[in-house]
Amino acid sequence: LSQYRSNGPLAGKKVVVTAGPTREHIDPVRFISNPSSGKMGFAMAKAAQNMGADVTLIHGPVTIEKPEGITTIEIESAQELFEQVQNHSDANVVIMAAAVSDFTPKETHQQKVKKDKADSSIQLKKTPDILSWLGDHKNDGQILIGFAMETENLLENAKDKLERKNADWIVANSLNDDDSGFASDKNKVHLLSKNDSIQIEGLKSEVARQVLSHIFKNS
Ligand code: CTP
Ligand code: CA
Repeated sequence: LSQYRSNGPLAGKKVVVTAGPTREHIDPVRFISNPSSGKMGFAMAKAAQNMGADVTLIHGPVTIEKPEGITTIEIESAQELFEQVQNHSDANVVIMAAAVSDFTPKETHQQKVKKDKADSSIQLKKTPDILSWLGDHKNDGQILIGFAMETENLLENAKDKLERKNADWIVANSLNDDDSGFASDKNKVHLLSKNDSIQIEGLKSEVARQVLSHIFKNS
């Protein structure tokens, strides 16, 4: 057990964490997804638990181990994730670490599409932006923490997401760093708010702990 738990800075707080990829089905055997491992989101959930929070972890398909003592809810699509987040939107803190697909097929076929009958193009539509929805429906005192995965203009793009989505904090990742990214156990991030920016580097577990202690140091 950790030093924290019942007397930690998040004791008595309900924290919702989303993690992992989403899958947007084209047909029963094919989908659009991304390489998110869920490691960073799971690390955020464990760090929040160690600080005393009552954590609900809503996650897409991952192969990593479920954390003990945390309520987990499995989802597949961005739409399912959106519905579960809406069900838990009374949380004191929401951490959107999930790699949500931005697009989903306009139509999901109920049977496997056969290649000789298929059109080679797939029509897509946008998924709901869950973090923006949370930002538009923010509860009193609720803290929203988003992530940003960028391959260029890291700080500029992350700052833009902070404002556009009405988030309180953005954890910005550069996919260009050697020691960070989807499958790695390590990460190097910039943690930004409207008037604060710090760099944190290390194992994902350590980065998660430092992100939350920076945000909740005075609470
Ligand atoms: N996010 C979300 N719903 C979506 C897409 C993203 O809630 N449909 C959240 C992610 O979980 C993350 C944040 O928004 O916390 C930023 O995600 P990112 O993919 O970096 O930004 P986008 O706004 O999708 O912009 P783009 O992919 O074009 O950079
Ligand atoms: Ca995106």
